[in-house]
Amino acid sequence: MTIKAAILGFGTVGEGVYQILQTKRDHLTKLAGAPIELCGILVDNLSKERELPHSVFVTDQYEQILAQKPDVIFEAIVGEEPCFSYLTKAVDRHIHVVTANKVMFAKYGTRLLEQAAQKVGIGYEATTASGTPILGTITRLLQANSITKIEAILNGTSNYILSSIQNEGKGFQEALEEAQKRGFAEADPTNDIKGYDAFYKLMILSQLIYQSQPSWESVPCEGIDHITADQFNDAQQQGNKIRHIASIEEVNGELHASVKPQVLSPSHGLHSIDGVDNAIHLFGDLVGPLTLRGPGAGQLATASAMVEDFLYIWQSYPAKQLLY
Ligand SMILES: NC(=O)c1ccc[n+]([C@@H]2O[C@H](COP(=O)([O-])OP(=O)(O)OC[C@H]3O[C@@H](n4cnc5c(N)ncnc54)[C@H](OP(=O)(O)O)[C@@H]3O)[C@@H](O)[C@H]2O)c1
Repeated sequence: MTIKAAILGFGTVGEGVYQILQTKRDHLTKLAGAPIELCGILVDNLSKERELPHSVFVTDQYEQILAQKPDVIFEAIVGEEPCFSYLTKAVDRHIHVVTANKVMFAKYGTRLLEQAAQKVGIGYEATTASGTPILGTITRLLQANSITKIEAILNGTSNYILSSIQNEGKGFQEALEEAQKRGFAEADPTNDIKGYDAFYKLMILSQLIYQSQPSWESVPCEGIDHITADQFNDAQQQGNKIRHIASIEEVNGELHASVKPQVLSPSHGLHSIDGVDNAIHLFGDLVGPLTLRGPGAGQLATASAMVEDFLYIWQSYPAKQLLY
């Protein structure tokens, strides 16, 4: 028996999944109980040069991927559609799904999970903090806790820019360009610096923890692009740092969330988070305050979360229903 896997998208993340399936082949075979065979890769532009052996089936037709009858689909495309439609079709055909696509999942995750219930597993750890396993920690290791509040740095690009400005005295534009040069920021950085990326991730966390989301219009969402030099100076003079914080709290049954720059004093759990890292500071009623820190982006870190999701699904399904 082999496990048939397909990858949708062969950019940074899709290629990372491919690399892990190759380099960890023997280890994954032991963990999954059978070898994982790549049965196809879906791309947008077939004429792009790719570093792939000729034996790998690459197509721009999703139906051709489904025709391979994969057991699992790793989705690493960008945006809501056609991704949601693709994954809906996969779940209909009883194919496990693992996605990194936060934009799609923030909006359609609940529908996918409902559709998949008891049929197939849906893994989405990579959507929220890339390789930092916050969703698995919450669902598998903090089940008995009620999480009353979360404050988090969920956008590595913004954190990198803020750290460069405050630690190295760089200007915003210079810090952004350096982030782009080092591959931390995309050519169009709007989603990162305007706060939208952190917003999507916060909504996914909200759905997981509280089984609902505040109405999107009610959540103040500010980025880091309008912070003035005076604001940076004031924070620095008092030993504080400005960080881009996504927070959510349940108060009397109501969810209060915001995504915006905040001034943090040295005693705050997220004050020391510099560079491209993500960090999630949460309050569990039993465990107390807890901070999880790790890579918030990157090829192998994100693909790592996806492959771990797959293993969890494969090992536990259908014996146990997937917990998130
Ligand atoms: N990069 C990270 O560190 C990171 C971290 C966490 C989550 N994510 C999420 O992971 C997903 C992938 O990100 P990425 O950085 O790998 O993006 P990327 O480098 O831009 O790659 C996107 C891939 O998707 C393919 N694609 C786009 N539209 C398609 C369509 N309609 N049908 C088939 N294929 C299509 C592209 O095909 P072509 O190659 O033919 O253009 C490309 O291979 C995104 O949803 C992102 O938000 C990324």
